Amino acid sequence: MKPLIVANWKCNPATLEEAEKLFSSIGKGIRNIKNTEVVICPPFLYIPKIQNTPKQSFQDATGQARYKIQIGAQDCFWEQIGAFTGEVSPKMLKDLGCQYVILGHSERRRHLGETDEMVNKKLKATLKEKLTPILCVANLSQVKKDLRGISDEDFKKIIVAYEPIFAIGTGNPCSLKKAEKTRFSIQTMNKNLTIIYGGSVNSQNAKDYIKKAGFYGLLVGGVSLEAKEFIRLVKNLANT
Ligand code: PGA
Repeated sequence: MKPLIVANWKCNPATLEEAEKLFSSIGKGIRNIKNTEVVICPPFLYIPKIQNTPKQSFQDATGQARYKIQIGAQDCFWEQIGAFTGEVSPKMLKDLGCQYVILGHSERRRHLGETDEMVNKKLKATLKEKLTPILCVANLSQVKKDLRGISDEDFKKIIVAYEPIFAIGTGNPCSLKKAEKTRFSIQTMNKNLTIIYGGSVNSQNAKDYIKKAGFYGLLVGGVSLEAKEFIRLVKNLANT
């Protein structure tokens, strides 16, 4: 299995120049690492420039290995086109070459009033456009509500990120025992779901969530903005 590592840059970094630099440092740092799948989710505005970074910039010394980082967005709207000022649709993301989209992050739920009903509509629109949704949930009740009306076939296309609120951005990660227990409960709801963990993940604790708690991958916030530490994290997971 290739662990999936999703970098959530949130509303960072402050300039396009810094974003390009960060992307390029990460790309170069992980170009020789084979057994992982890395997705980077920058702010919307940076996506086209980052998506078009020439692959050659990630060649190794022999010119052989090229690390293909996948690009994702941090949110999207539930309609594909129309009079919805300020929104970005799944269709637009697809057109820019995005493969993934984070949905229902707790920061959006808290600061922007995103409800389970809204997240559910976004999820359905995303699947329709053949993007892979990374659905962030803090508990089992959210999983149930957000997945309402989704077909069994579509469960296979959804990644659920279990992110307990107390662990996000606090340096206080969830215990392996609690994380494993919640992973198991989500998996019991539908065995086709792919489940990852997020919340204060770093290069030291990353491996345990995969090896010991049985997660398929990780959603990484703060550490994904520090190239060196993020590269270390990916390296540590390559050998799981
Ligand atoms: P963190 O953020 O790694 O900084 O805790 C995770 C997230 O918000 O997805």
